[in-house]
Amino acid sequence: MRIEKRSKFNLKGINGVVIPAFKNRSFERIIKKYPEVEFFIKEHKFKGKIGEEIIFNSVKHKMLIIVAGAGEYRSLIDARKITKNIIMILKENRIKNILIQFIQNIELSLDHLVNFIDYLYINNYFFDLYKKDHNESKKLNNINIFFEFKNDLTNNIIENRSIIDKSVRLVRDLVNEIPSKVNPDYMKDLFKQVSDKNNLEISIMREKELDQKGFNGLVSVGKGSPYEPALIQLNYIPEKYKKSVAIVGKGITFDSGGLNIKTGNSMLEMKADMAGAAAVLGILKSVSDLKLPVKVYGYAAIAENMPGRKAYKPGDIITYRNKKTVEVINTDAEGRLVIADALISAAEEKPDYIIELSTLTGAIIVALGDSFAGLISNNKKLITNLVKSGERTGEYLWEMPMFEDYRESIKSKIADLKNANYRGASSIKAGLFLNEFTANIPFAHIDIAGTAFLSKQNKFYSSEGATGFGVRLIYDFLNFLK
Ligand code: BES
Ligand code: MN
Ligand code: ZN
Repeated sequence: MRIEKRSKFNLKGINGVVIPAFKNRSFERIIKKYPEVEFFIKEHKFKGKIGEEIIFNSVKHKMLIIVAGAGEYRSLIDARKITKNIIMILKENRIKNILIQFIQNIELSLDHLVNFIDYLYINNYFFDLYKKDHNESKKLNNINIFFEFKNDLTNNIIENRSIIDKSVRLVRDLVNEIPSKVNPDYMKDLFKQVSDKNNLEISIMREKELDQKGFNGLVSVGKGSPYEPALIQLNYIPEKYKKSVAIVGKGITFDSGGLNIKTGNSMLEMKADMAGAAAVLGILKSVSDLKLPVKVYGYAAIAENMPGRKAYKPGDIITYRNKKTVEVINTDAEGRLVIADALISAAEEKPDYIIELSTLTGAIIVALGDSFAGLISNNKKLITNLVKSGERTGEYLWEMPMFEDYRESIKSKIADLKNANYRGASSIKAGLFLNEFTANIPFAHIDIAGTAFLSKQNKFYSSEGATGFGVRLIYDFLNFLK
């Protein structure tokens, strides 16, 4: 899909017009341009609320006209919601080339317009690779936008957003892809492919080297799988930079729970347990595509958690590269075990910040649902900036306390730490656990278990499945850090 801002009004090649109509603002100019609309506005008591729509075939213009409630013009939330409604209507009506015409005299902020663009892209994504008619694309081809009044949106900005969207799509496709295809070997090949294309530095460690270097969380968790685990480091090093940031992602390509096997439907969505690692790949791709002046180290801790003949067991004790020991209480709390290795490795580079994304705990879904990721960090500046980036992009974060006094409950009787049985506040304590491996570098843990993969569509996303959560968030954070 191509989005373009048109500088002149022109209906050539267009088969539908969408007119956003903001609440509590005059519709007079809209009626003046499209007199047929007046009747419907009065008849339906149209107010411009999100979800309100007037759809009719215009006799005069010989095409479909859609007046879409655009809600509050100051609300970024409404900017996102309207895109979903627009895309759904266009899909239903099989309209492929549209003009979105902003007619009301309103000064829209650049943030509003960027969200509008981002979510047009996001809502025009459908994972239909395994449908037999997937080639008969239902996706829109062209969106042209015309503004009757001036604003700061340029085609250059739209182009940049489309480049970021390509990374978001890469992540969504990868997370949605089936688990018998996306195993650790597949992840390694894809990381190599992207890094070659984008001229990134890459290093890939597999079992033998991981074992030699003491990355024993990955080695242990990977034991039950026929595929070797991997620790991948991807570096983006621009010519000029002031800050360096390490981004770490959980890459469990399938989480069966291991010997503490998951029951019932709780295993169903566990192909998405590599969403953190996928986000790392997308972030590295987007910052290198757009040549951001920040040094970024990407780490993906990759393994498949399976109950195999050699699987690691409850009661095992893992000794890490930094000599800390962890008692395995539950093989299903595998995420923190593999991420610990990646954090040790990231800390060795001494970056200014470490930000880690993982589908870590079911408890974060209970606490925050599918629209907020949990943020656990002990660095105020990091918290403030990450939360702001969340608000700007719609990839919301909610801070939870990194409460030192809870550290007692992650200690083991026979090792330094234990990986489960924390009794309450398990998302927070998982964050405390990870913080043990960061060598006091400013650190933020982002738990994306609820936000990376939707069981069903919501107000912002037209389709269930992978969201690509983290790419736009961290890109925004890095962009403001530079
Ligand atoms: N990958 C899961 C967390 C998860 C749950 C992600 C639901 C997405 C949706 C993680 O490895 C896990 O199994 N966590 C356990 C930990 C427990 C055994 C201490 C959990 O949260 O139940
Ligand atoms: Mn698990
Ligand atoms: Zn997991």
